[in-house]
Amino acid sequence: MCAPGEHGAGGSAAGSADVDGSASTGAEAAPEAGDSARTVAWARAADGAQPGGRVRIDHLITSGVFSLDGGRWNVDNNVYLIGDDEECVVLDAPHDPTAILAAVGDRHLAAILCTHAHDDHVDAALAVAAATGAKIWLHPADRELWDRTHPGRAPDHEIAAGHEFTVGTGADAVALTALHTPGHTWGSMSFHAPDLNTVFTGDTLFQGGPGATGRSFSDFPTIIDSITSQLLGLPATTTVRTGHGRATTIGAEAPARQSWLDRGH
Ligand SMILES: [Fe+2]
Repeated sequence: MCAPGEHGAGGSAAGSADVDGSASTGAEAAPEAGDSARTVAWARAADGAQPGGRVRIDHLITSGVFSLDGGRWNVDNNVYLIGDDEECVVLDAPHDPTAILAAVGDRHLAAILCTHAHDDHVDAALAVAAATGAKIWLHPADRELWDRTHPGRAPDHEIAAGHEFTVGTGADAVALTALHTPGHTWGSMSFHAPDLNTVFTGDTLFQGGPGATGRSFSDFPTIIDSITSQLLGLPATTTVRTGHGRATTIGAEAPARQSWLDRGH
């Protein structure tokens, strides 16, 4: 993986594959089935070559507890690994380091990118980092939440809007661009991978609308602003890979914006 600020060389996705591991694996949502074909076609049109690139998305689901404001909830979290046969990055490290490490396999884990610091998204981050040497990236606005789960051990790097993480090598490399999408938490991030025709939204945007904003460190008008300014302008075919539950697309969610405002969550 290249450091933020370096640019990917374009490329294409070979599609996605779920990972066999000790945790349950998740079937992608309906849009996933046709997405690989669209992705390859888009990449060909964009750079004139490189169909069938090697970078892929692996999807893992781990189960555990989310706790905040005195409440505790059993949750299933999506984990995404973006990479090729040699290296990958992981988006969120929830609950089960053994399952995440199994999904990494013998590849170099270049980074642990946190969509936000709710405990159900970061509680395995230190164990995964210790086992691999991977650096942990988090937006600084979520540091207070992080410290509640991991007091005394700071993340290694601060993510900022516009940071570009390049995964893979040469013509097969793909870029992940960090989008600051506060509202669910102040430091919530999304990661856009145009070469893969996907955006990873953490708990900012789900199938059916915005993430929760009823607890501490959250704000509904802010999440609406984030979704509107950062996400809904992406191509309609963009697959939205979420922090929990099924994937969706920008085109499926964008028409519902007014209904989110009307219901207030
Ligand atoms: Fe969350």
